[in-house]
Amino acid sequence: MAMCLAVMAQGAVAQQAADAVDPEAAGVGVFESLSPEVSASLALKGAGAPVEASQWMVAAANPHAVQAGADVLAAGGTAADALVAVQVMLGLVEPQSSGLGGGAFLVWYDAERGALTTYDGRETAPLAATPRLFQDATGAPLRFFDAVVGGRSVGTPGTPALLAQVHERYGRHAWADLLEPARKLAAAGFSVSPRLAQLVANDAERLAASDITAEYFLPAGVPVAAGDRLVNLPYAHTLEVLAQQGMGAFYAGDLAKSIVATVQGAKDNPGVLSEVDLAIYRVKERPAVCAAYRAHEVCGMGPPSSGAIAVGQTLGMLQGYDLSAGPSDVTVRRLIGDAARLAFADRGRFVADSDFVPVPVEGMLEPSYLAQRGALLAGDRALEEVSAGSPAFDHALNWADGEAIELPSTSHISIVDSYGNVASMTTTIENGFGSRLMVGGFLLNNELTDFSFRSHREGVPIANRVEPGKRPRSSMSPTIVMKDGAPVIVAGSPGGSRIIGYTTQAIIAMIDWGMDPQQAATLPHAVNRFGTYDLEAGTSAEALADGLGAVGYETNARALTSGLHLIAIGDRLRGGADPRREGIVLGE
Ligand code: GLY
Repeated sequence: MAMCLAVMAQGAVAQQAADAVDPEAAGVGVFESLSPEVSASLALKGAGAPVEASQWMVAAANPHAVQAGADVLAAGGTAADALVAVQVMLGLVEPQSSGLGGGAFLVWYDAERGALTTYDGRETAPLAATPRLFQDATGAPLRFFDAVVGGRSVGTPGTPALLAQVHERYGRHAWADLLEPARKLAAAGFSVSPRLAQLVANDAERLAASDITAEYFLPAGVPVAAGDRLVNLPYAHTLEVLAQQGMGAFYAGDLAKSIVATVQGAKDNPGVLSEVDLAIYRVKERPAVCAAYRAHEVCGMGPPSSGAIAVGQTLGMLQGYDLSAGPSDVTVRRLIGDAARLAFADRGRFVADSDFVPVPVEGMLEPSYLAQRGALLAGDRALEEVSAGSPAFDHALNWADGEAIELPSTSHISIVDSYGNVASMTTTIENGFGSRLMVGGFLLNNELTDFSFRSHREGVPIANRVEPGKRPRSSMSPTIVMKDGAPVIVAGSPGGSRIIGYTTQAIIAMIDWGMDPQQAATLPHAVNRFGTYDLEAGTSAEALADGLGAVGYETNARALTSGLHLIAIGDRLRGGADPRREGIVLGE
């Protein structure tokens, strides 16, 4: 069997500042600029050619994980089978980004029905959580990492239930067989990757806050190094239990008790997650949210994610503009940047878990509304002021702007199987290493810090405030682009709230600029969310600084830690992996 191997990150890892953050002192714009995950240096690698295949393809952030998925697909497994194998392996070898202790959103194309759907495996706030979860006794928001580290930030994990549900519905291979490669590698030990080693070293102080976590990542007080063999017997045991008893054993019984004891018993910052929260967790199947762009429908995850709405709004506002001058053109960047700013203004005001607050999804993606917002871009300078619009809605809305902090971590998996099914899943434990609490060999998420720490502003409630049972707003943007009723692009990325910009750029690169998936994944980033234009340091994007400055932007050169995994579906499958991470593409 001939498998093709794509770009694999190697070489030095760029060091990045990730200092402790004080939201009050710093303000949202500043603390959203921190990145606890590092990226491999782009300058060290060329773009390479996309991987090509004819039957199936899998792209994800670690070679062990991609290999596990490829083995399943090569043996006739479905994308759902491969998703299980990839995710449980990522939880071992890329533990800082995603795993059983986290949540995920899946966009799924069912080839048999010719239909798209989405699965919401987002974490939920415990029933005992209140809107003041992240406020001190005076009502002031906590400092970000004071909220993150410990049990307070842990939401009920959804990834295990999502995997079980899609496997039950779309899988062909035996559940236990899909967990076995990760179980075996956990027991035998895997070689620590350069990126994981760098992240452990950067985060050593916070990892030391929990004894179990410290013992695993900092044995004898020393951070694990690249190439060290790391054995994870608790994870092997967890997978053995889940293989024998099914995912139900995650949500009730000994494992559930251990999760609750770990969260409630966290030394300095205990949380309120209970066994009832685990027992009542449910994955929600929701309709895909789609927006027209050129001759395509760009489809993704609706609330509680802001991903599909913000990507769709940005593209929708650009419909009337010619972007063919390409990524180095200042006007093109001005248009994309200000469309994104307008989308972020709506996102901050209106988007939250739609099972708790009414969200004007249709109004926000209405072509006439986007044309009206897009008309604001017609000048030749950066917009001086950007605020939320008034999308059509049959509810009266009076929300204050939220201010959730989403720092980059997370992982994205793209899969096409030989039956034509497509999976686009973004998966996370939120911050790098999540809450830093470990149980059963996996890290628990800090997803609850994706809620707004403030619940009100001048008496007006914030849509994305904490409420019991609610799911925090996300930026994860797993995407399937459709053309003439068939999937043509699978896309998604990690990167906190910059996920939206990374995914949007990849789609524009492939549709407007004619790039292949590898070129689109490698393309230097320029991202605007709140006004300042972030330009990817050490790349050609930095050359935009003078031109963007001349039309009124502040610019900021910095590492931009995407992890795009892209597949283009045409006469062949073509895949690209982001050279900023350690991922590869395999196909046959
Ligand atoms: N925690 C990252 C996101 O959900 O957007």
